[in-house]
Amino acid sequence: MKTIVVYSSKTGFTLKYAKKLSEELNCELIHVKDIKKRTWSKDETVIYGGSLKAGIIRDLSHFNKTVKVNPRQLIVFACGLTSRDDQVKIQEIKKANHLESIPFYYFPGGVDYSQLGFASKSLLKMICKSIKKDPQGDLMMAARLEKSGDYTELDLLKEMLQQINNK
Ligand SMILES: Cc1cc2nc3c(=O)[nH]c(=O)nc-3n(C[C@H](O)[C@H](O)[C@H](O)COP(=O)(O)O)c2cc1C
Repeated sequence: MKTIVVYSSKTGFTLKYAKKLSEELNCELIHVKDIKKRTWSKDETVIYGGSLKAGIIRDLSHFNKTVKVNPRQLIVFACGLTSRDDQVKIQEIKKANHLESIPFYYFPGGVDYSQLGFASKSLLKMICKSIKKDPQGDLMMAARLEKSGDYTELDLLKEMLQQINNK
């Protein structure tokens, strides 16, 4: 089975997972901006990884419009600051990104304020405020939004790799 990992990452956290996956699977790794530069074959499995921005997986819809991958050959992962314990939120992310029938994985990322512009910083501030106001709010996410930090856990890829290798 031929596999390729495609990623979209603003500050490098999603890239860490994508790189590790491509190393473990010994397969090609490309940035989403380069998808038009290659020829796509119908029989390859595509792993798409993108970070979350206001609940949406970065560039996934652009990827799907540009490369028509058979949904049975697509696996998607998202990287964000939502707590992994918040299964309701994770299911909402899956639905909002039209991934109901696609294998989907969610991994913790990080924040690097030194790489973010004014608009992104303001949006994160707003997200943090609204979490704190909500009695059911994701307090772990709010705490992680306070300052730069790396919460990636590459070991979490083990389950995904096992499922891919068993396919
Ligand atoms: C503008 C903005 C909006 C974000 N929105 C969400 C979100 O809705 N849910 C979430 O879990 N994380 C959200 N995040 C956190 C990022 O997904 C997280 O920082 C991620 O690890 C960044 O990965 P990257 O460096 O690969 O882009 C947001 C970050 C930014 C900058």
